Amino acid sequence: MGITGASPLRLDILSWQPNRRPDCPDHVDGHRALQVRFPVLQVELEQEIPVRTALVSDIHGNLEALNVVLDDIDRRTVDRIISLGDILGYGPDPVACVDLVAERCDWSLMGNHDYGALYEPTNFNAAAEQAAYWTRAQLELEEDETAAAQRWEILGRLRVRTSFNDFLCVHGSPRRPINEYIFPEDAINSPVKMKQLFEHVPQYCLVGHTHVPGVFTDEPDFYGPEDMDDRTWKFTGEGKCIVNPGSVGQPRDLDPRSSYAILDEDAKTVEFFRLEYDIDAVVKKIYAIPELTNWLGDRLIEGR
Ligand SMILES: [Fe+2]
Repeated sequence: MGITGASPLRLDILSWQPNRRPDCPDHVDGHRALQVRFPVLQVELEQEIPVRTALVSDIHGNLEALNVVLDDIDRRTVDRIISLGDILGYGPDPVACVDLVAERCDWSLMGNHDYGALYEPTNFNAAAEQAAYWTRAQLELEEDETAAAQRWEILGRLRVRTSFNDFLCVHGSPRRPINEYIFPEDAINSPVKMKQLFEHVPQYCLVGHTHVPGVFTDEPDFYGPEDMDDRTWKFTGEGKCIVNPGSVGQPRDLDPRSSYAILDEDAKTVEFFRLEYDIDAVVKKIYAIPELTNWLGDRLIEGR
């Protein structure tokens, strides 16, 4: 393992939790390490030996959905969980979701709603903006100063862009990591956009943001889990791919069940999962919070 050209302070800022290894912007367990060079940060990093990684994204303060997904992950053989952003926003339990992600995930990306609650809402509609300010207020309500400080520190360390092995990880798109959407219809309607996006992808890319699960190829084309045998994508090694595991807390593909995926780097597959959870309980919470418009509950029922 070796890191050059980065100060201890910089490295500490890049680490995810205080008790994790402070010396690597991409979380790596030291015992499974190879050296590679990370060109953007100009530091040498350890390359991770392939593992089974659960991909969760767009939790959006939906604690009931997150708990069901984590329970399902616990029943499978998974080495780690990573979060592709938007822990916050829309949902009624942002604080509990931050704490659970910090406890269970190796690291998380910064989504546009995390950014909105932490810094400022950007290009949000009125309902989303109001939800962002309400979310920030929930974080600020914490009376335990130590807990509050730790939570702000965790949120402040959310990664805009990171990578491991052949996988670039961003919330939105590889060229605009926080805010750009890659919609399934872009594969048909926007070939130039897709070509430009894939120019930023070394081999594979993991994204969230649209709340629609599936895989983009550089043909370009899009394959939903229902288009795949056993809802499992196989990486052939030919061409590039962008993978979206869908949304844990606010699916938008007209299937209201919670969505996540497991990446298996040994088998070179991504398997997509859908899980039912207690939507009514979440809807009731949303209806009871004046700052969260009822539509945010209704859309959970409809899956859009
Ligand atoms: Fe989102």
